[in-house]
Amino acid sequence: MEFSIKSGNPEKQRSGCVVVGVFESKKLSLPALLLDKASDGFIATLLRRGEMEGKSGTSLLLHAIPGINSERVLLVGLGKEKDFGDKEYCLAIKTAIKALKQTQAQDATLFLTELAVRKRNTAWKIRQTASICSDALYQFDQFKSPSPNPGRQLRKLALCIQNANERAQAEEALQQGLAIAEGMALCKDLGNMPPNVCNPVYLAQEAEKIAKEFSLECEILGPDEMRELGMHSLLAVAAGSHQPPRLICLHYKGGQPDEAPIVLVGKGVTFDTGGISLKPGAEMDEMKYDMCGAASVLGAMQAAARMALPINLSIVVPATENMPGGGATRPGDIVSSMSGQTIEILNTDAEGRLILCDALTYAGRFNPQVVIDVATLTGACVVALAGIASGLFANKDGLARELLEAGEEAGDRAWQLPLWDEYQELLKSPFADMANIGGRWGGAITAACFLSRFTKEYRWAHLDIAGTAWKSGADKGATGRPVPLLMHYLLQHAGKSLN
Ligand code: BES
Ligand code: MN
Ligand code: ZN
Repeated sequence: MEFSIKSGNPEKQRSGCVVVGVFESKKLSLPALLLDKASDGFIATLLRRGEMEGKSGTSLLLHAIPGINSERVLLVGLGKEKDFGDKEYCLAIKTAIKALKQTQAQDATLFLTELAVRKRNTAWKIRQTASICSDALYQFDQFKSPSPNPGRQLRKLALCIQNANERAQAEEALQQGLAIAEGMALCKDLGNMPPNVCNPVYLAQEAEKIAKEFSLECEILGPDEMRELGMHSLLAVAAGSHQPPRLICLHYKGGQPDEAPIVLVGKGVTFDTGGISLKPGAEMDEMKYDMCGAASVLGAMQAAARMALPINLSIVVPATENMPGGGATRPGDIVSSMSGQTIEILNTDAEGRLILCDALTYAGRFNPQVVIDVATLTGACVVALAGIASGLFANKDGLARELLEAGEEAGDRAWQLPLWDEYQELLKSPFADMANIGGRWGGAITAACFLSRFTKEYRWAHLDIAGTAWKSGADKGATGRPVPLLMHYLLQHAGKSLN
């Protein structure tokens, strides 16, 4: 899809489809009003007849309106004008793009980007629109036979801005939005890829590809190096699989040479059977998504490099399968981590924390200003927050606030849960420094508490994306979350996001 920024009058456009908004109830937005005037009240008449109310999430496609140059006009419902905020704006864009996909139009001109959104400027609107639209057009069909007649497709989308002086900001925001969408597409592709293809070695190869394209430093460790470093916790998870594990690091240096990097750590379990603590069979295929943390930090890295952000950014991905082979770790086994702390593995299905703890210790080597790990870590987090918000934990409240704010701005929200000392008690082991599970209750929190024991040396946050990384059911697929949250956080750091 080709995007462009435009300013002009809706009635003068020669476009496959002009898209304008209608508030509830039947109140035309300014561009819609201009179309109405040019057509001698055609649109107002339709609305008066009850063809459209203007409710959020609705749309109405009109053809060959007299006095209007474009072939089609798409009216998009915006809801009540006084309630029009972030959520309503994004829903209007989603509704528009869904409706446009159903038409034969090959190009369209969007006037929704001219609508005023509370607290948000043009750059925000353009960034969100570009990433929402390209995200909505995403398809994962590389394993399907090609369809014989693909039909006409939307190819060009012009985003209108009212004030031509804002063109430079709008162009930059467009590039940011597209970079975010491409990061999300990479994240989704890796997540959706079948687990017989997407194994640890494959993830490492994908990282190498990104490194090559953007001239990043790339460092990949195998089992021998891991043993040397004392990463026996990570190795314990890999022990039951025929696939060798990898620790994947990429380094992007867009900031000052002496500036401490931001480090993103992503859980890369390319398939989680549970190991000897085997999972039940139902929906086990979805455990191919257990590397979505890894996919999201790779997506964020690609987007940051594409935007050429003036920051130093590193990613660390521990990648392994969790399988119940003959060499597999047993419940009751005790291992030592790279940090020196010992762990009694009481449940081999709590493997995410076992690979993350060694990756988090390794991340300390880069003298980070902050470390954020992203992981499909616990079913308990899905119970707590469903697929709406990612779980957020942090050892500094200021960091938690920044991430919550980034999530709000991106429309990719997180919700903070506590890391109080009282919860640490639940990880006691009679035989080792800690157990890898905390019992039945508060599972998302005890998992985060486990990680916190390896992150004392730096500012650290943990995002549990078990509920938000993919959707089940009829529209099964990776969501690309939390790439938008991470990118808005990085944009804020780079001082580039002014709403
Ligand atoms: N990858 C799973 C978490 C998960 C489960 C994500 C379901 C999304 C949907 C993780 O490795 C896991 O198995 N966690 C266990 C931990 C338990 C054994 C303490 C869980 O949540 O059940
Ligand atoms: Mn597991
Ligand atoms: Zn897992």
